[in-house]
Amino acid sequence: MPITKILSLSVVSICIAVCQAQPFLTGLNLLPLGNIRTSDAGGPYNVSLLQVQVNEVKAAIAARGPATDKDVVNFALNQECFEGRFDTYGAFGRDFLGDLAGGGPTPLGVKKANLSTTGQALAEEVALIEQGHVTFLRHAGASLPCPLTDITGGFNKFLAQAYGLTPTATAIQEKFGSAFDPFQNDETFFLSVLTLEELGATGAKGLVGVISNPVIATGFAGLAAAANAQAAVERAFLIARATNIVPPFGETVQQVFARISAVRDSLDGPQLDDQGLFNTDPRAIAVPASYVNFVPTDIQGITFGRTPQQLINIETLGSSDGTGGFFPSGYVGAINKPTGYASQDTGLGGFPAAGTGVATQGSIEQAGTILPPITSAGPTLVDGQLGETQAVGGPEETDSYTSRGYSNAPAQNPYNGPTPPTSVGQQLLGR
Ligand SMILES: *[C@@H]1O[C@H](CO)[C@@H](O)[C@H](O)[C@H]1NC(C)=O
Ligand SMILES: *[C@@H]1O[C@H](CO)[C@@H](O)[C@H](O)[C@H]1NC(C)=O
Repeated sequence: MPITKILSLSVVSICIAVCQAQPFLTGLNLLPLGNIRTSDAGGPYNVSLLQVQVNEVKAAIAARGPATDKDVVNFALNQECFEGRFDTYGAFGRDFLGDLAGGGPTPLGVKKANLSTTGQALAEEVALIEQGHVTFLRHAGASLPCPLTDITGGFNKFLAQAYGLTPTATAIQEKFGSAFDPFQNDETFFLSVLTLEELGATGAKGLVGVISNPVIATGFAGLAAAANAQAAVERAFLIARATNIVPPFGETVQQVFARISAVRDSLDGPQLDDQGLFNTDPRAIAVPASYVNFVPTDIQGITFGRTPQQLINIETLGSSDGTGGFFPSGYVGAINKPTGYASQDTGLGGFPAAGTGVATQGSIEQAGTILPPITSAGPTLVDGQLGETQAVGGPEETDSYTSRGYSNAPAQNPYNGPTPPTSVGQQLLGR
């Protein structure tokens, strides 16, 4: 049976389980086929050339399970409250105004960030946009209070894991003499903001396939676009400061973010997707010579999505019950467990049945490889090409964070990857 046929048949059967809140009528030739809002699920496209997107849709349908659209917007509220309140405290030294937080508990470990003039201006715009995202979700029907989040404690656990330490709130302090303070300066703040921004961006793209209502799906697409745009500015800000040293680690911005990217990549399942501030891996887009990675995409220039379960698994540092890390009491709403994040469906077979726990998307590797050289200038074979996206030294891929560009060298040692192309970042940003 042709693959497209299998896909459409499976979609119909899944629809019985998950279809709801469909504003389209069959008379408009827009069939309410579960998450596939199309009368032509089989193409005009060549599905084998779009397998990354097909796998994201498959993962999204499995991730949705029995959830309703209201459950999905309530899930999104967790992420946007998390980012929005962190950013708002950092920029303005206060929580959301009015009832945007819905009476949710004040985040732990938050304060006004110590920022330069440029950093402050960027922080304010980011915070206001995040507040807008929460407003959108409230208008889209998210009704729950914001969840309890632990910002400083969460980052200390998350970064402890990124440094190969046991992820406790005090591990970094014990190892490096002082805790990580996300609000300490431009570097610590925007490393932290970007860490969450890209979880929001990939999560929002993933939700486009999870939600059934196309009005809200369009909103999620715009939310993902805004988050990616903010992330690109934050990346530019950090790339301009790539060789600045980040306290208390004594490593560069580039190196610390490589570790962050590596740990995010490991916690979302075995596929390779997350990328550092510089990318030398031609399975994604590797810019010749400078390797700057302002906008991480696959070789089709498309950003990747994450399922809610992948986000939960990253933000709770792999906790099996969906509590811990940044979310000490877990997520509000019905979608609150990481279940299924590790199982992966990479093939082009039938859609998984809803709720089976198959909930990861395909890898950027599936989009194929640009055969080097991209231009006469390269890259040909560059450091990190075969195993990593993060372009730092380390062992080959073994599907764990310890091999995703993560270097196990004692952290106070000098950066051990390729020479960071600072001058390029600084030239691009006019510094
Ligand atoms: C779809 O793309 C694949 C991979 O390039 C190719 O082998 C196949 O022939 C294409 N199918 C059609 C119908 O064009
Ligand atoms: C605020 O940031 C500046 C610039 O990085 C730094 O020199 C200063 O020590 C920071 N202040 C505090 C209290 O950390």
